[in-house]
Amino acid sequence: MNKVIGKPINRVDGKLKVTGSARYTADIPIENLTYGVLIESTIAKGKITKLETTIAETAPGVLAVITHRNVPKFNQITFFPGGQSLPILQDENIYYQGQHIGIVVAETLEQAQYAATLVKVEYKIEQPTIDIDEALKQGYEPEKIFGGMLPAHIFRGDINSGYSQAEVLVEQTYSTPMENHNPIEPSATLAVWEDDRLTLYDTTQGVFSTQGAIAKVFDIPPENIRVISQFLGGGFGCKAMVWSHTILTTLAARYVQHPVKLALTRAQMYTSVGYRAPTRQHLSLGATKNGKLTLIKHIGETITSPFDEFPEPVTLTTNMMYACPNLDTKYYIGRINAGTPTFMRAPGKAPGMFALESAMDELSYALELDPIELRLRNHADVDPGTGHRWSSKSLKECYQRGAEIFGWKHRNPKPASMSNGDSLIGLGMASATFPADTFPATAKVTIYNRGKFLVESATHDLGTGTYTVMTQVAAEVLGVSLEQVEFKLGDTNLPLAPLTGNSTTASSVGSAVQAAAMNARNKILEIAISDSDSPLYQAEPEKIIFDSGKLLLQNNPTVGESYQEILTRHGWENIEAVGSSLSKQEQQKYAKHSFGAVFVEVRVDRLLGEVRVARCVGVYGAGRILNAKTARSQMIGGITWGIGMALMEHTVMSPHYGRILNHNLSDYLIPVQLDVPDIQVQFVEEEDPHVNALGTKGIGELSVVGVAAAIANAVYHATGKRIRDLPITPDKL
Ligand code: MOS
Repeated sequence: MNKVIGKPINRVDGKLKVTGSARYTADIPIENLTYGVLIESTIAKGKITKLETTIAETAPGVLAVITHRNVPKFNQITFFPGGQSLPILQDENIYYQGQHIGIVVAETLEQAQYAATLVKVEYKIEQPTIDIDEALKQGYEPEKIFGGMLPAHIFRGDINSGYSQAEVLVEQTYSTPMENHNPIEPSATLAVWEDDRLTLYDTTQGVFSTQGAIAKVFDIPPENIRVISQFLGGGFGCKAMVWSHTILTTLAARYVQHPVKLALTRAQMYTSVGYRAPTRQHLSLGATKNGKLTLIKHIGETITSPFDEFPEPVTLTTNMMYACPNLDTKYYIGRINAGTPTFMRAPGKAPGMFALESAMDELSYALELDPIELRLRNHADVDPGTGHRWSSKSLKECYQRGAEIFGWKHRNPKPASMSNGDSLIGLGMASATFPADTFPATAKVTIYNRGKFLVESATHDLGTGTYTVMTQVAAEVLGVSLEQVEFKLGDTNLPLAPLTGNSTTASSVGSAVQAAAMNARNKILEIAISDSDSPLYQAEPEKIIFDSGKLLLQNNPTVGESYQEILTRHGWENIEAVGSSLSKQEQQKYAKHSFGAVFVEVRVDRLLGEVRVARCVGVYGAGRILNAKTARSQMIGGITWGIGMALMEHTVMSPHYGRILNHNLSDYLIPVQLDVPDIQVQFVEEEDPHVNALGTKGIGELSVVGVAAAIANAVYHATGKRIRDLPITPDKL
């Protein structure tokens, strides 16, 4: 049998990418293209008092300057699902620096850029709120988190009795800064109208959600809009919602009656497509002397924009991570003069687990207990929130195997006890987890009489390997070679698939592809066994295998025939079948999460306080792994992000003007090659019959969770200094 699921197959789109033939949104060749450039507010709060556009309008090549003065009527977007709800170009009010206040369209990009500089804007400036403390003074407790999908206040047991049972208490505040996504491909939109039909090439993680939002905004039926997103150079959540540059480009294209392309600059990426809100997390852990948690209290203080409510959901994993009878988690948010924050890789879980796993480390020292042992003593055998059994959970094995590979037993538990010259050596660990959700998705498989197999679903490939793993799933189920299968994605003309987010694509679309391929091969099977001309006539269906492009008798594989032969004999060019990821009732009874353990060694320069990550081991239980190579790459990518989160990433806003001061990749630091050590990734074998049809759990976001805490814990072990405020920079040490 040609088993290809799980194999370290090279990316099927790899050649297209390295030869430059993969067309990203901004690369799509369109005739008569014109170019859009945004005009942005240079103040953070106030009103436009004067807007002078005539010079820009008469500049060479300019087709239009659209501002609130001359904007044609269109509907406004609503927050979630949709995008930032700030009315676009509706009045003179300014709520944040970088707010889009107009768009210039010209025949060339340079003409549009030049004309944009000729637009003169005067403002009445008001004092913006930028500081998180200031914002929280007028703050409030939100009822919902996660785009309104989940309740903000979660509690169980009795927190006061948790306090009275506690013999040891850790109560600390952990904070994380504002962060930006920084995909290598900046967001871009290319809008092409033909009468009342629109084709939108857009850097979106959700072609259908974009279609729905744009349909509402322009009051046209969704079926008149085709959204295409075939290659993405990363998204990380900043391409999940519809942002105003997409709407403005679409609007401009209709206004000038030409296709318009607009690509955000790197700097605009910091103010146009969301960010991760800064957090301040008050965390209390109480435990008995033998290390049993008696209480967990987690209050997430964070900020949102003046017009939407998106608190960074830091408590999502606190609620389910450890067995603890008494728990209380809630939020407090304030509004600052910034755009709306949004989903950013492992929303809430990445900063939330920094706090929880740092506090667990602190508790382990307070109890003089090994950090792994403390975690084992509080291992959640069932989901502590719901009492449901886990569909599968290999966390204990992750701890054990990770500790072994890493050499945890060589660690002297005493802080600042290990060194090598001026290098203080620190070893730290943390747990990781992420929900393993499966969303409704559909796929279609077409079997052609010329030995070709087309698989289609309107999902996306953010660079993670969707093209490759879906090809593998289809090839294995059909019993054909990878080269015979073509997978198409990223187009609203294809079968419905959800937004690519929440690490659900492998599970959701993979299960749909599996189902569609099974349905397709069964159709062929039915035809063969009921056809007296087939060598498989009247064979028992369950005794037939699918291998090497053929249907064969299991007990005598010399008997059988190919897909092509069956189709050709009946004079059919192709047959089609669809499949969906609909979960079975039985699967609803389980709590579904992936888990892992991260181990990190740091070297801290005794004199400079500089932290280098020397090595890292991550062991994960994430269900069935579809491709050992792309999975490993994803984990390395996420762990690298975790290194950045721990040591570098920090969006800096000027306290008076609300400007982002480091809106470029030379000042907003992310890890480069030399910052990333040897990263060892292992997956524990995990067979999960309950999680979904394919047995997969998402891994994309699991990878970043826990890394920052493991590094902070290692820094404490190296130095005896606990840094509770990310990023851990030399000045703090
Ligand atoms: Mo991701 S933050 O679910 O796009």
